[in-house]
Amino acid sequence: MRVVRSVAELRIAVKAMREQGLRIGFVPTMGYLHEGHAALIRQSANRCDATVVSIYVNPTQFGPTEDLAKYPQDLEADQNLCLRLGVSLLFLPDTQEMYPSNFQTFIEPGRVAEPLCGKYRPGHFRGVATVVAKLFNMVQPDLAFFGQKDLQQTAVVKRMVRDLNLAVDIAVVPTIRETDGLAMSSRNVYLTPEERRRALSISLALFSAESAFRAGERDAPRLQALVQECLWGVDVLQYCELVDAQSLETIVGQVDRSAALCVAAFVGSTRLIDNILLNPHPEAQGILGVGVSQ
Ligand code: PAJ
Repeated sequence: MRVVRSVAELRIAVKAMREQGLRIGFVPTMGYLHEGHAALIRQSANRCDATVVSIYVNPTQFGPTEDLAKYPQDLEADQNLCLRLGVSLLFLPDTQEMYPSNFQTFIEPGRVAEPLCGKYRPGHFRGVATVVAKLFNMVQPDLAFFGQKDLQQTAVVKRMVRDLNLAVDIAVVPTIRETDGLAMSSRNVYLTPEERRRALSISLALFSAESAFRAGERDAPRLQALVQECLWGVDVLQYCELVDAQSLETIVGQVDRSAALCVAAFVGSTRLIDNILLNPHPEAQGILGVGVSQ
């Protein structure tokens, strides 16, 4: 595994891969890697000839009161995991490399970035879209991997790829969970043992709505209410919304198309998000299942 820190070195290494005719997979991350990230890397290893992973805690996607300064880091563990998973190239830029002084050009996502997290994290998806576009331009991957855990992020990235004609396919990988159901997240490390127990109510609430949906419940307000009733462990609920899985527009009435139930909540001072997909026509391939979906 090659480790590079500058865009210039990255470009040379990627060019060499391309000249060998390798299909390049890319997994952008902010590090403190866990099994969720590993699932993305494994998918890339399965579907591509070479995998590039980036680790960069992107300041432009953090709000002024968010956890940028204390975002968890363990570079040595991350490098070991990447090595074990057969990553070809690990890109570790610093902020000087990503945002040199006088940087002033951003990508402004549209409506897809407005609901859900967009309401509570102004500027977040502008920062995500900008850094992801920059990384795509640097790595020029054939296929890039994102987790369903960050559903709105996948929607913003897919919209950007289409709207700006970026030459990359986007694959969405299902959420990896702890054995009890909690969605894996680098931020779970902030939780005290007591908060960790309460955090579990988020995934369990979503699972209960999923069971009701499987048993035939199609009424959006009832499914939403079911989740809300089960969120006993959260301190502040930001949103609990049933949305169209692609446009992220709120579904009112019956769930007649691929939908997602999405939750964001604080447990203590930690902000957690999770979602589950509800597909009324499971016989038709899910829009967001593993696979290339543009
Ligand atoms: P980060 O939170 O490190 O996540 C990197 C990728 O791993 C994202 O695509 C995310 O959706 C995915 N991921 C995280 N937890 C997961 C889980 N439990 N199961 C499956 N996939 C999971 O998302 C970011 O970084 C940043 O916004 C980034 C895209 C790197 C841009 O800065």
